[in-house]
This record gives sequence, structure tokens and C-alpha cells, in this order.
Amino acid sequence: MMVDTHTHLDFAEFDADRETVIARARLAGLAAIVNVGADLESSRASIALAEQYDFIYAAVGIHPHDACTVTPQVLEELRALARHPKVVAVGEIGLDYYRDLSPRPVQRQAFADQLALAAELGLPVIIHSRDALEDTLSVLQGWRGTGVLHSYSGGPERLEKVLALGFFIGISGPVTFPNAHRLRSVAAVVPLDRLLIETDCPYLTPEPYRGRRNEPTYVWYVAGAVARARGMSAETIAQATTENAVRLLGLKLPGTRPE
Ligand code: NI
Repeated sequence: MMVDTHTHLDFAEFDADRETVIARARLAGLAAIVNVGADLESSRASIALAEQYDFIYAAVGIHPHDACTVTPQVLEELRALARHPKVVAVGEIGLDYYRDLSPRPVQRQAFADQLALAAELGLPVIIHSRDALEDTLSVLQGWRGTGVLHSYSGGPERLEKVLALGFFIGISGPVTFPNAHRLRSVAAVVPLDRLLIETDCPYLTPEPYRGRRNEPTYVWYVAGAVARARGMSAETIAQATTENAVRLLGLKLPGTRPE
């Protein structure tokens, strides 16, 4: 059993074969998939997928790239969407100083506004943080809630601060890349009860499929690389990360009991 805690199956890359990809994921032992919104449209599409498939859950939120679009009206719409029974998180939200598609102060405000919304609704958050970990941590200081830093790309030196906030660490495909020594050193030391595994498909395709479209089935390659980095079996990683996903996101899987 395995959970992919970060997918974008609503994206156009899956338009030609979405049903087949989802069927393959189920056959590969995925007990749940969390499809994550990046704007209002993809948040609605995530909910639509969650309504269509029992093992798909949704997160709703506005990506930092689109922080400029976060108005009181948009927040009101997100609040309404987030009340859907299959919405398990607010995300993906955060800061992206690598592409800087919205001005940084606007990104910080949109991030803070959506954190406040998550706290109000009692939902965890899925955070995108690229080249912005210091500011991400400072915005999170004093926020009372929990969540995951998805596709973690920070070094081991900042890990303690993230863990001290009570957050989970999401590891994705780059952990399989031959020269990703730093990320593997992170994957090796994250406490087992704070680890999540994800694909971020269609992006970040793991080896041996790097360069092609990613899909949830490949989450096993991520788990395999994490397992090797820790000297554990892939089954141990799968079981622990599944339990973590259930605990953080309140997923209802066959044979597990959400808290
Ligand atoms: Ni994503």
C-alpha cells in the first residue's frame, strides 16, 4: 500500500490518457492520491477528480506563481471549495523566489492569507518553497497548524527548523537522480514519522523514466530510493509514509483508521 501525496492529474499532460494513468496507479497498489490545486480552476478540477474516484483526494489553493490573483473574492471562493468533504488540505501555497512570477511581498501576503484560511478551517497545508526557505520559515513562525514542505529541496542544515515547526517533509523524484547526494542525505535522516513520498506528476519524473512524463505509479521509484538511502525496505517506507499521510491528511484508506 502506498500514497502519492502530490499530483497534478488534472493538467493537460494527462488529457489523452487520464483514466488509464489512474487505473495503473490503482493496480500498482496506491491506496490514495492527493491531487493538488495551483489556482481556482485546478482546485475545482481536483475536487471533480476526487468526486469521480474514491481513492483520489483534493487540496485547494493558489500557487505562489499566481499570488497576484489572490483577492478577498478568491479567498472566499477557496473557503467554499475547502468545505468539500474530500478536500484534505490547503495547497499548494508558499513562496517561489526561483521564478519570481509574482512580486515577493505579494507572494508573502498570499501565503499568509491562505495559512489563515487553513487555520480557520482546521486543515493542514501543502507548501511549495523554492529558493525561499528562510522566508517560508519566518512566515510560518507563530502560525498554529501543520502540513508538509512538498518536494523538499533544502539541505539537511535547515531540516531541524522545519521539523521543530511540526511539519512533514515531502520527498519526490529528484531523490533518484545520480548526483542528488544532498537530497538523499536529507531523506536518510528525516524522522520516519515525518516523511511523505510524492511524485508531483507530471513533473519531476524519477529515474529510470527521467525526461518523460511522470505519473503516480512511479512513486514506487521514489520510495525505493528513499529506502536505499536509509537502509530499509521499500515496504517499510511505504507503510510508514502511508500511515503519515493518513495521520496528516485524515485520509480514509481500506484497513486504516484516520485520527
Ligand atoms: Ni505541485
